[in-house]
Amino acid sequence: MIEAPKGTYDVLPDEQQRRAQLERQAHRILGGAGYRRIETPVFEATELFSRGVGESSDIVQKEMYTFTDAGGRSLTLRPEGTASVARAYIEHGMHKQASPVKLWYLSSFFRAEAPQKGRQRQFWQVGAELIGTPEPEADAELIILQAELLEAMGVAHTQLNLGSLGTPETRAEYREELAAYLRAHVDDLPKEVTARIDINPLRAFDVRGAEQVMANAPKLIDRLNAEDKEHFEIVKHLLDSAGLKYHLDPTLVRGLDYYTRTVFEFSSEALGAQSGVGGGGRYDGLIEQIGGKPTPASGWAAGIERILLAAGAQPTATEPVDIYVVAVTGNQAPPERHLEIGTTAFELASEARRAGLSAQLELTRRSVKAALKHADRIAARYVALVTNEGTSLKDMDSGEQRELASPADAVAEVLRTHRS
Ligand code: HAM
Repeated sequence: MIEAPKGTYDVLPDEQQRRAQLERQAHRILGGAGYRRIETPVFEATELFSRGVGESSDIVQKEMYTFTDAGGRSLTLRPEGTASVARAYIEHGMHKQASPVKLWYLSSFFRAEAPQKGRQRQFWQVGAELIGTPEPEADAELIILQAELLEAMGVAHTQLNLGSLGTPETRAEYREELAAYLRAHVDDLPKEVTARIDINPLRAFDVRGAEQVMANAPKLIDRLNAEDKEHFEIVKHLLDSAGLKYHLDPTLVRGLDYYTRTVFEFSSEALGAQSGVGGGGRYDGLIEQIGGKPTPASGWAAGIERILLAAGAQPTATEPVDIYVVAVTGNQAPPERHLEIGTTAFELASEARRAGLSAQLELTRRSVKAALKHADRIAARYVALVTNEGTSLKDMDSGEQRELASPADAVAEVLRTHRS
């Protein structure tokens, strides 16, 4: 048997309803705040991500699905949406539109990560990008919108982790300071940290056994310049006044290189090791970095699978079936009778659909007994039995069955109860 590739999965019909609900909520919450939906291509020039997401990020270094097409171009399945949206913003001259430009998306993304619960190689994100303003209000509003979406979807026990990264210059200086601090404490640090001081000193905050040394390590948040500090204070103040609780995380590092100033992540206890439901932040340098004019921007993305996992199982109601149309031909009937009765049933189902009803046609030539059992299973409200002698309509709630003067009367009858 040929199976789906590792880390990918099928979205089966039973799961569609909750996904559709998420899409409706995103539409309501983001659309209501002035965001308009955008779709970008599934693959892009590899350079977009190496320049946008950053050469030193794990994503670019080891998680991209990159291939060369027949024309010799290097292309990559999108690992995230921000670089693509920024590219589309530049390519379509969206800076000419009223600022800020607000965009949202719901699409699938690809990262070659080790699959586990809540971590796939093809996964879905809902995301929002707000391009054209450096103001802290934009960051606070974005955070609140994600909180609203998570709440609307019933994601329980979330924690909002919040930090600020300042400017790339501040960060570079801080890295040096931190590396020097780690070098001065090599004897008290695990090998995992000491081996990577030059490559990624920030990782030291996440390594077990380094806690004691790291408690006194310099923190980036204490090194921010005055403007960045003030920007962050306003974001916090706005979240406070909105009543949204957050946990200040001075070591919050996101896996993408484009962030400046505000960064945040929502995590949920309901998830296991992969506790991040969604995250984002400000990326004031990205648009210039990929060839646009300097343009401040901010945004976030949340994982669809993780939202649905964290929201837990919820009963999925099946789609209502107003009428189930059964051609009752009997086994002995000659082929032309099959065709005649079958055609009447077929037309009746089509007519019911044209009238706006949900109609299912019996397609496997079940016996009447089996068809009525099936009607129960699909929760059909009415069953139309089309026979040699005429058509009858059975109300599955009351059990009452009535003969009709013509098959078309079935539609009128169902419509009548539908409206009452
Ligand atoms: P990210 O933190 O890499 O940010 O991804 C956002 C969310 O996507 C994560 O919190 C997680 O829920 C989900 N996610 C990421 N990787 C996987 C995976 N392998 N399997 C399942 N879910 C996953 C970004 O992608 C940024 N573009 C967010 C952003 C938008 N920043 C500014 N604007």
